[in-house]
Amino acid sequence: MTIDELYESAFAYLELNPERFTDQEKMKFMQGLQEWISGKSETIDDEVYDFLIAAKLSDEKSREEQFASYLNGKYGHLAFRRVMDVGAGRMCKLSTLLAKNGARMYAIDPNIRLSEEEAYERGIAQISTGHFVCDWALERGRKGTNVRPMDILVGLEPCDATEHIIRQGLKYDKPFDVVLCAAPHDSIDGRTFRTYEEWYEYLLSISAEVDIKKVGSSYIASNDPQLFQELER
Ligand SMILES: C[S@@+](CC[C@H](N)C(=O)[O-])C[C@H]1O[C@@H](n2cnc3c(N)ncnc32)[C@H](O)[C@@H]1O
Repeated sequence: MTIDELYESAFAYLELNPERFTDQEKMKFMQGLQEWISGKSETIDDEVYDFLIAAKLSDEKSREEQFASYLNGKYGHLAFRRVMDVGAGRMCKLSTLLAKNGARMYAIDPNIRLSEEEAYERGIAQISTGHFVCDWALERGRKGTNVRPMDILVGLEPCDATEHIIRQGLKYDKPFDVVLCAAPHDSIDGRTFRTYEEWYEYLLSISAEVDIKKVGSSYIASNDPQLFQELER
């Protein structure tokens, strides 16, 4: 494929997915594509990555497929497990895949663009367009998102929701797996970090139960000891 054909496919992709990209996101996508073509950046924009897979320009599995197969491998099976996908994204792609694997999916993200019917058709049990919030972020005694009915909490690069998932998972003894963003996010209490490494150190410092592992090209935060206890029961 020539560079001109690549750009043509990229424009067609943006046109075919109008609900997915605002004008600002289209500009970010095109900038990411240019950087990928010029080889300037070591990382690749998530949307550009998804486009290359959709356009069959990459044989790699999508980020959602990679994470879903990691979760399937880790938990053995997901059938009938109640899984909350935090920061599920506009089209709830990870939730859709995990629902196909038999999990009972609860997707939460203020950005969800699916209607309840569309979510139902994808096998997703429930969607919420609220923010996931941990108890720790609220005034004493107030409760954040109810995770008690859940078996597992997951997030695929859920940005600012990351720390909330970790704290709520620890508090309610829920196994969690969060694919961390490659850029740092502020802590809930307003601390800023210069690099993603500093942010990862901070996440690790929340509790000795938090573990961060490199899996493929991603870093995944989880609380494995909780998982082992659960499996042993
Ligand atoms: C980088 S996107 C990732 C979306 C999707 N998981 C994916 O990989 O395509 C991060 C998402 O996290 C969502 N998010 C951020 N803070 C959140 C919170 N407190 N509760 C729920 N979703 C949140 C944003 O709205 C955004 O859709």
